[in-house]
Amino acid sequence: MEVNEVWEEIRKETRKRAEAEPVLASFFHTTVLEHDSFSSTLANHLANDLSNASIQPMMLRRVMKEAINSSEEMISDIANDLIATKERDPACRYFSTPLLFYKGFRALQAHKVSHWLWANERHTLALFIQSRCSEVYGVDIHPAAQIGKGVMMDHGTGVVIGETAVVEDNVSIFQGVTLGGTGKESGDRHPKVREGVLLSAAVTILGNVEIGKNAKVAAGSVVLSDVKEGTTVAGVPAEEVGKSGKKSPAYEVDHNIYRNL
Ligand SMILES: CC(C)(COP(=O)(O)OP(=O)(O)OC[C@H]1O[C@@H](n2cnc3c(N)ncnc32)[C@H](O)[C@@H]1OP(=O)(O)O)[C@@H](O)C(=O)NCCC(=O)NCCS
Repeated sequence: MEVNEVWEEIRKETRKRAEAEPVLASFFHTTVLEHDSFSSTLANHLANDLSNASIQPMMLRRVMKEAINSSEEMISDIANDLIATKERDPACRYFSTPLLFYKGFRALQAHKVSHWLWANERHTLALFIQSRCSEVYGVDIHPAAQIGKGVMMDHGTGVVIGETAVVEDNVSIFQGVTLGGTGKESGDRHPKVREGVLLSAAVTILGNVEIGKNAKVAAGSVVLSDVKEGTTVAGVPAEEVGKSGKKSPAYEVDHNIYRNL
């Protein structure tokens, strides 16, 4: 699905939502309907969330727009995260929902902005955004961390991702996940999470270890060594308990879990 199609869907849904819930009509208008593009509405959301008494939304909006519009790839990666959330989270029935109401999605997009600033040597502003995301969303991602596209961060609360961590495309991350260092290493010291991995709630992965493609890490596990591609690990410390058995657990497992809630 192209970015423009996603944007059209968001506008259609928001018009219907505004009609159905008059109390929120002006909210829908100022956050979506008065904007002429997806990048404008997202920049507005992030700026409103992350501004404070010393930095006004207008100043941040400009930076957000600059970052979001910096390349075709950036805006398409953002749309991919949105589509991933709608496809994988059965509680999410509309494209507009992550944008309007999911702080995990917003935190990931704010990280894209801070990562862009970091790459452009604007480290102080990048760190400001990281710090505000931590305060506002409860998600603390170092601006230098590399995160791919089609990533779903569900809930977001308590997620911490360190400076040299890598999260490849199509990974799903639940609340309370830590991708941290062991405290004993310096330099390249954080986990490398390969494509299609599922990181369940409260997973802690420490050190420069590799979580192989399409692996599953069970809720509450502490991972201290490499995890083989396509395997399921669980426990403290995590051990292999089976094969992940699905082409991409990041996609499929979530549906089962949520239907049971
Ligand atoms: C790992 C998980 C996805 C199940 O994967 P699975 O491949 O279907 O694995 P199974 O259920 O067959 O379990 C395999 C073994 O690991 C054990 N296991 C599964 N999850 C575990 C966990 N979190 N901690 C410890 N052991 C666990 C099972 O008891 C089973 O052990 P057994 O073979 O001795 O009976 C699931 O247990 C899990 O942790 N889901 C995450 C849910 C989540 O984060 N939800 C957030 C919602 S907000």
